Formats: sequence, structure tokens, C-alpha cells
Amino acid sequence: MQDLTGKHIVLGLTGGVACYKSAELCRLFVKAGAVVQVVMTEAATQFITPVTMQALSGRPVYVSQWDAREANNMPHINLGRDADAIVLAPCSADFIARLVAGRSDELLSLLCLARPAERVPLLIAPAMNREMWSHPATQRNLAQVAADGAMVLGVGSGAQACGETGDGRMLEPEQLLEDVVAAFQPKVLAGQHLLVTAGPTFEALDPIRGITNHSSGKMGFAIARAAREAGAEVTLVAGPVHLPTPRGVRRIDVLSAQQMLDATLAQTSAATVFVATAAVADWRPATASEHKIKKDGSGQVPVLNFTENADILATVAQSERVRDRRLYCVGFAAESENLSAHARAKRARKGIPLLVGNIGPLTFGQDDNSLLLVDEHGERELPRASKLALARALVQEIAGRLPAWKDGS
Ligand code: CTP
Repeated sequence: MQDLTGKHIVLGLTGGVACYKSAELCRLFVKAGAVVQVVMTEAATQFITPVTMQALSGRPVYVSQWDAREANNMPHINLGRDADAIVLAPCSADFIARLVAGRSDELLSLLCLARPAERVPLLIAPAMNREMWSHPATQRNLAQVAADGAMVLGVGSGAQACGETGDGRMLEPEQLLEDVVAAFQPKVLAGQHLLVTAGPTFEALDPIRGITNHSSGKMGFAIARAAREAGAEVTLVAGPVHLPTPRGVRRIDVLSAQQMLDATLAQTSAATVFVATAAVADWRPATASEHKIKKDGSGQVPVLNFTENADILATVAQSERVRDRRLYCVGFAAESENLSAHARAKRARKGIPLLVGNIGPLTFGQDDNSLLLVDEHGERELPRASKLALARALVQEIAGRLPAWKDGS
């Protein structure tokens, strides 16, 4: 099952240099399992040909409202009725103004006006010069299309085709794909604020070396993404990992367990759900040497002493916010054997309502995993799947438990 399996997307192109990115976006939609119907304005065909878009989508492109290929000669009705979403990428300043005015003198604007708004979301990826973007008329029009029910996906910032630098670039195809996939997810965490820890920590021995572990951070990042897709505000406290920040997620980078604790505690007052996926080092060197520890030629090895790190999850679990049932805590347990018994014991020890167990060596660095959920009612297994699929399932499980937990029942 891919992210857009079974989805029928109308990809609308309007006039703009960013049309060159729409070819890649179309490919990504198709690769994600979607059926893609491309509709172009006349202006768009000045920037990229319908031939390219037909080849990539595998379907004839529509440009005119007079297209006689439709038996009833009503492509503006038929194309919208089949769609699960209409995505305008790029959407020019002129086209946004046309949407605001309810114009309908060419196929794409006609199609947008005639779409069944309650069933077919309209997603807009604007693309224009920075001055056009910041102009009050454009900003006014964007606010109006949003008020009329469209979802405005925002813009990127950077070098523009005109040679200027600023806001107004169309988002990259991968970013747009992530936003469109997110638009289809049920908003089960709307109104919630998730705080997630992820990745390993790094405990310095000296300025050059340190102690860390194999955690990739993938599960925590997947949970942050899934929670955002489900409508939550998300803050991700990340140890040293090489992963891109999920769209719309606020990320705080840390190195040591102490930094992760400080960053987490600074965020708990706003959070309603805390998910601790980080593989926090249990110990840190008692003293980190200011300078590199050198071999002195005697063959003697340095003696290292360790101090125990604070348990971030247990610390948060004891906070007033948790006692008042305003912050729901979820812990993770990476075990090497006897998962069920260890997970139950760890849940009790940490004093948290939900603990998610997995077998460490089977998950570290992998793209898929299986999870064992342990709560006060017992156990439930989420069978092996991609970490993102598991994260989405876990987000649903958490959302389902929140009302009863808040009531104290
Ligand atoms: N955790 C934490 N801070 C720590 C250690 C662990 O927040 N200093 C959190 C982890 O993010 C995870 C849970 O506690 O959600 C369990 O971590 P784990 O390392 O598996 O358990 P430990 O408590 O360290 O127990 P043990 O080493 O005995 O398995």
C-alpha cells in the first residue's frame, strides 16, 4: 500500500516557470500510487508541453473546456467528479485572482468553480516573483481563497528564475507530495500538541570523542510526521541524526542527554502528549576533558568514571501536568528478548499509561518494524510494517486513548 494508492488527483498547471517542477511532481504522485489527470491553462503550455505531462501521467492532458473527447462535452464537470483532490502546482498570482473572482472562462478555473467543495479539496501551491508574492493584492487574494475553502500550501524562499532572491518559489515536488499525502490523513489529533524525543544522545569524553548508540531516529521522526499529518502541532527534540525535518514540524537539535532533558522540560508546559522514542544514554562520563585525552606513551589506558543521566521520560511522567491529566506520556522500550514482560515492567516503573515495545536489534536503522502496545488493559501488537505506517497506526491508538485517560476512566 503506497501513500496515494486509490487516489485520483487532478493536477492543474497554470503559467509559471515552476511548471518544470510539475513534471517531477506528477511522477512522484504516480509513483505514490495515484491516478493523475493533468489539466493545463493555455499559459502553462508556454512553459511545458502537454506531451511531457501526458507521457508522465499516462493520460491525455486537458487544456480546453471545448474538448470533445468527453461524451457530454463537459470536462469541467466530469474531471472534478472523479477527483479526490485538485492540486494547482504551480498556481500563478493571476490564477489566484481568478479563483477569488470566481472566473470561469477557461477549463481549469471552470473546473475549480464547479468542484464539489465538501468532497474534493483544492490545494494551491503558489509560485511567483517575490514582489508579486508580497504585494497586498496577492496576500489579500490568498487570504480570500483560504477563507473560501482552499488549502494554501505556502511557498519556498531562495533564488528565483528572474534573478532575484526571496519568498515566492514553488515548494519542491517532495515537499508538495508530503503536503498532499498529509491532506488525506484523518485529523484525529487536531488541537493536540505533541512533544517527541528522537534519536541517540552523544556524551562527550573530550572535544573529539564521545559515547553514542545506533539509534537512527527514524521511528521518532515518523511519529512526528504522522502526528503533524493528523493535525497536531509538533515539537521534535532530536539527538544527532541525519534525517530531514518532517513538514510543519518544529525541530530542536540537541547532543547530550542533559541538553535533551533541558529542551524537553522547556517544552512540556505547552504539550498535551509526550512521546519518548529517544535512545538516551544511561550514563555520561563523570567529567568531560577540556582537551583531547592523549596517549602518553606508557601504554596505560585512561580510567573513565560515569555518572547516571536523568531519565527524561520518568522526570516528565512525574510532573504536575501529567498528574492533572493534561499531558499523556508514551514511552518506548527497546529490548533484546522477552518483550512482553520487560515492556509491562517498564510501563509500571516509568509510571506511564502507554508503553510501546520493540526488539532493538530488529529496528535500529531499519525502515520497518513491529510494535507491542502495552497499556492498563493489556497488550496489542501492530504487525511488521514501514515505520511511517506504524507511526500512523500509533497516532490513531494514542488519539483513541486520550478521551478516557483525560476523564480518568
Ligand atoms: N528514556 C528517557 N531518558 C533516559 C532513558 C530512557 O527518556 N535517560 C526513555 C526512552 O526514550 C524510552 C524509555 O525511556 O521511551 C525506555 O528506555 P530504555 O532505554 O529502553 O529503558 P531504560 O529505562 O533505560 O531501562 P533498561 O536500560 O533497563 O532497559
